[in-house]
Amino acid sequence: MTKQANVMLDKRAVIANIDERIYGSFIEHMGRAVYGGIYEPDHPEADEQGFRKDVLELVKDLQVPIIRYPGGNMVSAYNWEDGVGPKEDRPRRLELAWQVIETNQFGTNEFADFAKKTNSDVMMAINLGTRGIDAARNLVEYCNHPSGSYWSDLRRSHGYEAPHKFKTWCLGNEMDGDWQIGQKTAVEYGRLAAESGKAMRQVDPDIELVTCGSSGSGMPTFPEWEAVTLEHTYDVADYISLHQYFGNRDNDSQNYLASTMELEHFINTVRSVCDYLKAKKRSKKTMMLSFDEWNVWYHSNEADEKLERWQQAPPQLEDRYNMEDALLVGGILITFLKHADRIKMACLAQLVNVIAPIVTENGGGSWKQTIYYPYMHASVFGRGKSLHTVSASPKFDTKDFTDVPHTDSAVVYREEEEEVTIFALNRHTEEDIRVHYALHDFEGYEVEEHITLHHEDLKAGNSLAQENVKPALSQAHTWEEQELQVELKHASWNVIRLKRRT
Ligand code: AHR
Repeated sequence: MTKQANVMLDKRAVIANIDERIYGSFIEHMGRAVYGGIYEPDHPEADEQGFRKDVLELVKDLQVPIIRYPGGNMVSAYNWEDGVGPKEDRPRRLELAWQVIETNQFGTNEFADFAKKTNSDVMMAINLGTRGIDAARNLVEYCNHPSGSYWSDLRRSHGYEAPHKFKTWCLGNEMDGDWQIGQKTAVEYGRLAAESGKAMRQVDPDIELVTCGSSGSGMPTFPEWEAVTLEHTYDVADYISLHQYFGNRDNDSQNYLASTMELEHFINTVRSVCDYLKAKKRSKKTMMLSFDEWNVWYHSNEADEKLERWQQAPPQLEDRYNMEDALLVGGILITFLKHADRIKMACLAQLVNVIAPIVTENGGGSWKQTIYYPYMHASVFGRGKSLHTVSASPKFDTKDFTDVPHTDSAVVYREEEEEVTIFALNRHTEEDIRVHYALHDFEGYEVEEHITLHHEDLKAGNSLAQENVKPALSQAHTWEEQELQVELKHASWNVIRLKRRT
């Protein structure tokens, strides 16, 4: 007998207005993300500034609202001054985090231009590894001050008359990690981040600041790191960062697909620590969450160990994603939507070539990985209000998790457009499941389309030559008297869009 799940919702039961920045991404100076990814001046498809037009189109289709830059681990030893001004004067450096040569032919101003072309905002990260308050406040002045000061006039002399007005700034990157150049203890970091943030705000009071949370829920110092650093940064910061990467290292697909349970626990813990600090400080402010690095990252680990040092733009972290990775990415996006009241930004790490939805060939074509699709669907159709759902799904246990629902859904309501989008996942690897959605207060609505992403082989992936995993339209649903029945194929990601017709 077909398994059955039930979901009830009400348009008045709103979790929050979704901040579209939860569909952000990330470009780090590493591997072929910048050089050979977004920027390849010798490519036949390069525009007058050296940006690959094919990549610009793929990014625009994703409607990426914000892109984090320039790192990542790289930022913790980065001298931002190396990447501005005449290109012939820019130094070649040993980039220590990824053990490569950084030519600095691309820098802050080029990235501002790229972001303009993709209609994205910029989330800048500052170096709190080898540098600190002074370099940070100078960078804010260079980027955001209109004119009449040393750094703002330097920007103007570089051809950028108008300030970039970057609004969002990360106070360093993963400063808890022993791989980080200039790793800090929680107290060291908390003090430095607070003082840097204060100085940056004195330059530009309109900026928003993200304080570094743990590099992942598996860190030995999690969640003590959050508790201690927030003692210092709570007043100055608007967001705390969360980072998490996933991988099916044991080739246990059910356990892998259940790992959104761990994500849920991670988010809830960070929320609680923030609220503890709020209470302790008698603060009126609620600390919001910026999940500014997340993705699947494990396929490329072995290949990366064999890479020679000090190459220029080598193929680092080039994971090739498969069907089950796309399902997990869909599950992560559903989880973010359920926490739309606290998660206000999130960045799929990364955007091009490096653990990315988009892949390019140097001098050649570009293509979409499996994970491109759930990310695009959520970004394009997932804007509006995130609705609460009351659901009952058959459950399963795995090696690491118990009571994992086989199906998971998030619902987005666009009141003005009179549209509802249901994102639904069936993580059962063998059985189709029928889900019954009760949408009783959506009178006059009809199903517009039901998109599904499914492949019988969980390990199937895409390449330049062949797109094996791509969305298709499905008719496996019925809609009668505001009751929607959907057959979710086993191991499938689904987008069901409804619109009011009468
Ligand atoms: O995204 C790849 C790396 O993962 C980033 O540089 C770092 O912040 C994280 O550990």
